[in-house]
Amino acid sequence: QELELKLEMLEKGGFDHFMLKEIYEQPRSIKDCMRGRIYPEEGKVQLGGIKEFAEKLKNIDRIIIVACGTSWHAGLVGEYLIEEYARIPVEVEYASEFRYRNPIITEKDVVIAISQSGETADTMAAIEMAKERGATIFGICNVAGASIPRLTHAGVYTHAGPEIGVASTKAFTAQVTVLTLMAFYMAQQKGTITTSKLIELLTELDHIPEKIQVALESNDLIKEVAEKIKDSTNCLFLGRGSGFPVALEGALKLKEISYIHAEGYPAAEMKHGPIALIDEEMPVVFIATQNSSYEKVISNIQEVKARKGKVIAIVTQGDTEVKKMADYCIEIPDANEAFLPLLATIPLQLLSYHIAVMRGCNVDQPRNLAKSVTVE
Ligand code: G6P
Repeated sequence: QELELKLEMLEKGGFDHFMLKEIYEQPRSIKDCMRGRIYPEEGKVQLGGIKEFAEKLKNIDRIIIVACGTSWHAGLVGEYLIEEYARIPVEVEYASEFRYRNPIITEKDVVIAISQSGETADTMAAIEMAKERGATIFGICNVAGASIPRLTHAGVYTHAGPEIGVASTKAFTAQVTVLTLMAFYMAQQKGTITTSKLIELLTELDHIPEKIQVALESNDLIKEVAEKIKDSTNCLFLGRGSGFPVALEGALKLKEISYIHAEGYPAAEMKHGPIALIDEEMPVVFIATQNSSYEKVISNIQEVKARKGKVIAIVTQGDTEVKKMADYCIEIPDANEAFLPLLATIPLQLLSYHIAVMRGCNVDQPRNLAKSVTVE
């Protein structure tokens, strides 16, 4: 028994939980995910796994992303990136819904299935259906040799390493990294991006692991914020643009491990419902970094403050505007909007983690949840 305990301590690498260890592994896991795939000086992305489809990618009509849970959130980030850079229309579908519809799929469609485990039953069924209808199937998986990579025509592994915590952390950021690489790769194939732009973006992407390291340094501050809101019964997460899937993921993380009811919403949709819930008991977490939607998010923050909501804002380092309004601000390093999801997710993971620990929850194995869902 004692030996078992010691072994577990070792496996956790000195961290109290696997989840925390995995959160802290992200600078490395993202680096591993990019290794051999990006060439910043040449402005080139190489994805060996989908290389044989390089020509096909020039003529596809549409991309359909299918996934469940956290992987579905990564898919939403992918939609922003692929549409922005490769100018290919993207639809993101819950695998469970997609498989039971009668979706219109043609041979000119590419379906991207995202799955950490590579074993999710609904995602597998969605792949099988799309395959029968002639689509080309790409996989984005973490577990090598799992069922999904075997079902797909081609794919890109995330290389995040084993993820033990049931709530996905490093697998999510690795999925987002792969989708970023795919968006750039497709843009390169289609000629929708210039080499100089790619040089600029890839040079910045190459340094994202260091910026994640900086984001992790807010841990003590995040713990203080967690202490202030840990007894809430509800929590709202709001963001715009690619900050919206980040908000969804932040809310999912919190509800999964702390059992606090949390909702993610596009910030502008707040006025169509969630605003009715806001009072002094309601913490609202904003993704309020300095990007194209900054001014609009600021007015959403004002709306929450006017109703006495408690505002926790994820802001760009050195921000002064949001700081005047928010109750708590957590800084992340400045970055191109394309990389915002990778950075803004980090403080939200830590926030959920600390709240769950403070509430005495089983962080690594939350009740009723499984790491991989092999039944429908
Ligand atoms: C379960 C896990 C989640 C995961 C989801 C999809 O619900 O608890 O963390 O996001 O399944 O799993 P997959 O392995 O397909 O990414």
